[in-house]
Amino acid sequence: MHYAALAILVIVCQTVGLVLAEPLAFRWADRFLTFDENELFDEPVNYLDGDPTPERWFPQLVDHFGLTSATFPQRFFVNDTWYQAGGPVYLYNPGEGANSARKVQRGFVVDLARATQGLVVSLEHRYYGRSNPVPDLSPTNMRYLSVAQALADMAYFIEHAPLPQIQSAPSTRWVVVGGSYAGNLAAWMRLEYPHLVFAAYSSSGPVRAKNDYYEYDLAVGDRLPCHELIADTVVEIDHVLDGKDTQQIDDLKKAFGLESLNRTKDFAGALVDQMATLVQYYAPPKSNHTDSINAFCEYFSNHTTPLNGFAAATRDYLKTKEIDAAQTFNTYLGAKNYTLEQSGRSWFYQTCTEFAYWQTAPRSPMLSMRSKYVDLDYNAGPCRAFFGSHLEMPVPVDRLNERYGADSIDVDRVFYVNGEFDPWRRLSVSSPVAPPRQDSLKNKYRVIPRASHCYDLRAPDEETDWPELVTIRAEIVATFQQWLNDPAIAR
Ligand SMILES: *[C@@H]1O[C@H](CO)[C@@H](O)[C@H](O)[C@H]1NC(C)=O
Ligand SMILES: *[C@@H]1O[C@H](CO)[C@@H](O)[C@H](O)[C@H]1NC(C)=O
Ligand SMILES: *[C@@H]1O[C@H](CO)[C@@H](O)[C@H](O)[C@H]1NC(C)=O
Ligand SMILES: *[C@@H]1O[C@H](CO)[C@@H](O)[C@H](O)[C@H]1NC(C)=O
Ligand SMILES: *[C@@H]1O[C@H](CO)[C@@H](O)[C@H](O)[C@H]1NC(C)=O
Repeated sequence: MHYAALAILVIVCQTVGLVLAEPLAFRWADRFLTFDENELFDEPVNYLDGDPTPERWFPQLVDHFGLTSATFPQRFFVNDTWYQAGGPVYLYNPGEGANSARKVQRGFVVDLARATQGLVVSLEHRYYGRSNPVPDLSPTNMRYLSVAQALADMAYFIEHAPLPQIQSAPSTRWVVVGGSYAGNLAAWMRLEYPHLVFAAYSSSGPVRAKNDYYEYDLAVGDRLPCHELIADTVVEIDHVLDGKDTQQIDDLKKAFGLESLNRTKDFAGALVDQMATLVQYYAPPKSNHTDSINAFCEYFSNHTTPLNGFAAATRDYLKTKEIDAAQTFNTYLGAKNYTLEQSGRSWFYQTCTEFAYWQTAPRSPMLSMRSKYVDLDYNAGPCRAFFGSHLEMPVPVDRLNERYGADSIDVDRVFYVNGEFDPWRRLSVSSPVAPPRQDSLKNKYRVIPRASHCYDLRAPDEETDWPELVTIRAEIVATFQQWLNDPAIAR
């Protein structure tokens, strides 16, 4: 029944931002970490040449560590256009969002496959999109969602690869690729399953889990030329919120177009959404477009006061992105909605149980782009309401950090790429506070100057790509060619 129901569903071509595509209750879930492909492509590329890449299904184990041999259909897409016998397989994990054919049709990974005569497979992550081991997302049904299960999925897929073109590993070399959370998974696959995984390409992976991740906000501030004006308005806003004068608070919410948010903390949380998105997904403007960061900062100087400018910027943002604030920023909304295909809910569970990654306000005297009401309680508070009182709080991140090595991870044949301006970099192997890394024949570490989150994975674009990005992409290709062709590297 499960299979039949899934087979009739089709992939919908999405040209709009994720907010529109999937109006979620929890903004941090999708918008802040997800490697959101809608941000990466200008135009829909789902049906190239009018011919859709077929959706395929793999019988995956529900529980890799239990006694049951039950399976569920896991969705994947394949592109073998560039494949030549003996070439590698790039296993592209789309991470915490629905998979789509785009992953194998366009983007830098497809170019990498072309340059190395490889095959590209993108395997949907369990609990996202159509790949669900459970009938709904009730609290008890979340129990098969963990990093260990997700890694075991990829291992089992490699071992039983439903790809007639190729031989099994290690005769065929498998390279695991991913960005953001899936960038972690790529490196961890090489760590946990070295006999199955030849190499990994880990883009913008926040490999260290952390509860109080105030450094994200510091990185956002560093990137915005108007950060001092923003910080001043945030102090003003907090002053009004501290005052507890309901009329004044209501007026403030109204000025920002956020009067539908009853909770003070939800209002405070909503204010940071725009600038965080701007910095995390920043792309240089096309020739006759305006620079998104400059346009945002302009609001703070072209209004009567910076606060009025901030309010206008927020109202315009909600309007142009068609964001329903009550739906998007109400943190407790949807706590009891167990419908499948809510990436936000699934990712929230992963943060509540393993990663945290809570983006909190830096404490004074650090400059803060967000209100002090955006604290740990704002972020982690809803965890138990969503998934049950048994959840450990704070999130026991040490468990994950110890198991996979966090930013001290030590495994060979991984190409790590990060963006200089990516607010997640401070949890990566290239964080300024991580142990210093040196390139070797076996590992590469690159920070792309001025790049945002996962920028390297985008489809190359002659108009906006800059020299350092082009150089590093070329190094990635050359390194994989070298590793794949090196006769000294046993299969
Ligand atoms: C494979 O990738 C190429 C682009 O490199 C694209 O034109 C083609 O449509 C893709 N094929 C499939 C089956 O997705
Ligand atoms: C929030 O405010 C709206 C009116 O703006 C009201 O209808 C609703 O009941 C309130 N919700 C809560 C939880 O207080
Ligand atoms: C510049 O913008 C105009 C419309 O404002 C458009 O017609 C033109 O194609 C754009 N040029 C480029 C190079 O994007
Ligand atoms: C301020 O700048 C923004 C961004 O360029 C623009 O959209 C807005 O219309 C300007 N507002 C005023 C009052 O000039
Ligand atoms: C539950 O979430 C789904 C997916 O976001 C949504 O379509 C549905 O309307 C929600 N149900 C309720 C009762 O809110």
